[in-house]
Amino acid sequence: MYTTLLTNLENGIFTITINRPDKLNALNTMVLNELESAVQRVCEDENIKAAIITGQGVKAFVAGADIAEFLEVPDEQGAAFSRKGQQIFFKIENCPKPFVAAVNGFALGGGCELAMACHFRLASDTAKFGQPEVNLGLIPGYGGTQRLTMLVGKGKAMELMMSASTIDANEAKDIGLVNYVTSPGSLLEKTREILGAILSKSPFAVSKVIAAVNAFYSCDKNGFSEEATLFGEVFASGDKKEGTRAFIEKRKPVFK
Ligand code: COA
Repeated sequence: MYTTLLTNLENGIFTITINRPDKLNALNTMVLNELESAVQRVCEDENIKAAIITGQGVKAFVAGADIAEFLEVPDEQGAAFSRKGQQIFFKIENCPKPFVAAVNGFALGGGCELAMACHFRLASDTAKFGQPEVNLGLIPGYGGTQRLTMLVGKGKAMELMMSASTIDANEAKDIGLVNYVTSPGSLLEKTREILGAILSKSPFAVSKVIAAVNAFYSCDKNGFSEEATLFGEVFASGDKKEGTRAFIEKRKPVFK
């Protein structure tokens, strides 16, 4: 179905594998277009409950936007180039179903930005993270200046982006960029285990957690007010009635 992605749906979890290992899974236009379509499918397909993004091969998650393509983009198209990637990554961030990055190797530039657009991240102990755009006379353009700052704080984000330094998985965990570090062989298994636990909860409530947390970072929303509105929505839901009743009746809830 796709040329640059491998996909697999198992137990409600849709795994998207960026598949250009000879170019360290760099994001060219075709990858971005196919990724957009796969993300759309995750959001719309009722059989998909959650998604994992990972990279093909042992070396890279995604080693960045495709640098070779930069040379083909006219100077005046730079902002549009950035906005296109941003818009796809917003779709991931705002998808009502959990998106998790399983970072299996280099996550540089657009690769780190892709991982950061997901709701959270796991990494294998071989993973490396960085925003090396200043090496190319550029800055991150797919949301990296914003999301890295949100995730690790201003000082560390400034240092990483200004110095173009690369950090390993354990340092990424120390600064809050990833939640877990695993061996390469258990990365997907651990990711699926965490998603399995999430999928046993109310999908409606989980979707509202995503919206409420995202509201904290949104310039045009008051996060507390948004939280109250979303709380009102889950409060009136069938899942809330089932969840609270099941607690009182000392049984497991069956969420819709
Ligand atoms: N865009 C396009 N092609 C890329 C790429 C990128 N971001 N990253 C790697 N590749 C390609 C290389 O050009 C090479 O292709 P080739 O075999 O046709 O020459 C192939 O992937 C393998 O990469 P190579 O550099 O030979 O591997 P390495 O192990 O020596 O180095 C990296 C690995 C990740 C350190 C190095 O590839 C790198 O610095 N990549 C660019 C990272 C970057 O700046 N990303 C941000 C872009 S804004």
